[in-house]
Amino acid sequence: MNKLLFIVLIVFTVRGSYASTSPDEGIWIPILIEKYNIKLMQEKGFRLSAEDIYSVNRASMKDAVVNFNRGCTAEFISGDGLLITNHHCGYGQIQDHSTLENDYLTNGFWAMSRDGELPNPGVTVTLLKRMEDVTEKVLQGITDEMPAQERDKLISSRIADLQASAVEGTGYSAVVRPFFMGNQYFLFVNETFRDIRLVGAPPSAIGKFGGDTDNWVWPRHTGDFSLFRVYAGKNNKPASYSPDNVPYNPGYYFPVSLKGVNEGAFTMVFGYPGTTSEYVPSYHIDMVKNHINPAMVGIRAKKLEIIDKAMESDPLIRIQYSSKKAGISNSWKKWIGEMQGLEKMNTIGQKQEYESRLTEWIGSDNNRKLRYGDILPAYRDLYEGLKEYTLINNYTSEVFNGIEAVVMARRIYELASLYRQDQAPDAQIVMKTKEAISEYAAGFFKDYDRETDQQLFAAMLTLYGETLDTKWLSPEYLKLKKLTGGDFNSIAPGLYDKSVFTDQQRFDSFLKKFGRSSLKKLEKDPFYRLAVDVSSFLSGNVLPELSRMNSERQKLNKRYMTAQMEYDNTRIFYPDANSTLRVSFGSVKGYYSEDAVYFKPVSTLKGIIEKDNPEIYDYNVPARLKELYAKSDYGRYGRNGEMPVCFIANNHTTGGNSGSPVINADGYLIGINFDRAWEGVASDLAFNPEQSRNISLDIRFALFIIDKFAGAGYLLDEMTIIE
Ligand code: ARG
Ligand code: GLU
Repeated sequence: MNKLLFIVLIVFTVRGSYASTSPDEGIWIPILIEKYNIKLMQEKGFRLSAEDIYSVNRASMKDAVVNFNRGCTAEFISGDGLLITNHHCGYGQIQDHSTLENDYLTNGFWAMSRDGELPNPGVTVTLLKRMEDVTEKVLQGITDEMPAQERDKLISSRIADLQASAVEGTGYSAVVRPFFMGNQYFLFVNETFRDIRLVGAPPSAIGKFGGDTDNWVWPRHTGDFSLFRVYAGKNNKPASYSPDNVPYNPGYYFPVSLKGVNEGAFTMVFGYPGTTSEYVPSYHIDMVKNHINPAMVGIRAKKLEIIDKAMESDPLIRIQYSSKKAGISNSWKKWIGEMQGLEKMNTIGQKQEYESRLTEWIGSDNNRKLRYGDILPAYRDLYEGLKEYTLINNYTSEVFNGIEAVVMARRIYELASLYRQDQAPDAQIVMKTKEAISEYAAGFFKDYDRETDQQLFAAMLTLYGETLDTKWLSPEYLKLKKLTGGDFNSIAPGLYDKSVFTDQQRFDSFLKKFGRSSLKKLEKDPFYRLAVDVSSFLSGNVLPELSRMNSERQKLNKRYMTAQMEYDNTRIFYPDANSTLRVSFGSVKGYYSEDAVYFKPVSTLKGIIEKDNPEIYDYNVPARLKELYAKSDYGRYGRNGEMPVCFIANNHTTGGNSGSPVINADGYLIGINFDRAWEGVASDLAFNPEQSRNISLDIRFALFIIDKFAGAGYLLDEMTIIE
């Protein structure tokens, strides 16, 4: 038995199960791998060093891993800036380039030459240059006794200074992020690229195979990948799109392995996990599981019911709403899995037990009583309010973000405000603002179906009134409700026929002529009125109290974290995910999903064929793929007559890790992380070593699709392939 495991087991037996951690749990900090993790990683089979993962002195893996478009991860797989990420991460872009005539969502897209690669305005790729512990600089002279809001202000201004001075004159950008609930701060210096072009994507029948039905579920057969290329100026530095830009030459790119995986093989995931909350009190779990998630699941179910029906009725609507639907459905489904997982693990009960042991420990020492004695009781009171205000805020946003005309109406705020001042606005600024709005509107209306939005409008407003207490409803809404007797369905057509926010032509001409006299018309528009009223209602009545409580909570969190670390002083803690670059490691591993049912860790093309159903969009296997299967024509990508598709491992991952490289013991790319398995999806709040599994695409399936299926094998020429 290795030493760390031994220590963990001691902690486990002495302190009880909750506070302990399995050796595969954890989302670790790259610059601390040497100190905390490398030994265990090497014991698990990793053959490289911590410097190979992160170094500022020489090329290392961190130079190949990027934050893709502020929500996903991607990695370089060639010296010419070729990036691989998930299909669902590039989905918005693939969809943007799709029309009924050129339907890349349905048919896939392959540039076939560099000239054919498609630019994507607005998409960014961010590369970490270096990181640094700046805890002392941020917290110097700041105490826990200071009033929460004053403390936050001081911290924010320190952070702003550090960020500014770190990048002066460099063209980089910097951010400082709190770790361990504000007990530690790190500075990140980043370089952001803006000319990112679409290189290739399989048809949705491969890239999104199984759709939202299979989403979050193992066994899985989704070929969830897409390819982009980063372009830079001739000096290899970020530049805005220009036909003269050249492929970016990264400091490092991953060699791609054809060796594949077996159960037990070492795996490392290197990417940008978004958010986890592993150290929160039981009250937080109660809030999420019993209050927020159920309400949000309910309202999203309604949205999905409406959108699904519309998508089935019309191929154009299918294109228009596919990306929006995927987003709505994704969290909806995860929240359900999360509630089930928390229930099954009895996380609230586990935490309560842990809290009572902790309370005992605190109470057994006067000094500790003084420092920590108030924390848990304070949490209990605070969460009473947080539960209510968080729900009001989240639910209200969910309602009004669900009405597309309201979303569009918000876009005009900035322009309108220019005309609310006494003097005439600057013509230049007006023109720029109009241009930006016009560009947004073009994208908006391309994917807009008025009839669908009308239904959303009625359903959202009905739920809003049914779910929140009257005192939390916006006055404008109450007026509308009174006027119509709550029958939003019957007033919808009238409103939608007239508003400028529901029709591209009306909107364009309104925007073109927009001037001071337009304000009157605007103020009569029902969607504009709702948009304005709801945000002013929230900022007046909900947000101040919510932000006060959240400040209070953060202050408690920081002290609670300290208490937990002191209580469990032999454990090596990992910080919650916070959208910064992290490492998780583990191994390929199956699991028991329920009594007597064991899931093996690798899926194959055979499973795709078994799921084939031409009647269902998500399971309609392309003929070419069936042909390759029939002939077992897998080239060098298959193994023992089978074509691997996905695999699972016990790496600790979360949203944002999509597209992350999965790396083998030699540092080669073997997969692309894209999901987690249903039974363990609550791992954002409580990792379950028995069932928490990340799902990855086997890189060989991606290569097989590029080469054999799409005939775009030219792309493999620029990769380094390890046979
Ligand atoms: N569940 C994965 C993630 O959280 C994949 C989502 C995209 N796929 C989908 N069918 N909606 O992002
Ligand atoms: N699909 C997720 C993403 O987009 C990763 C799955 C997860 O939440 O672990 O980041």
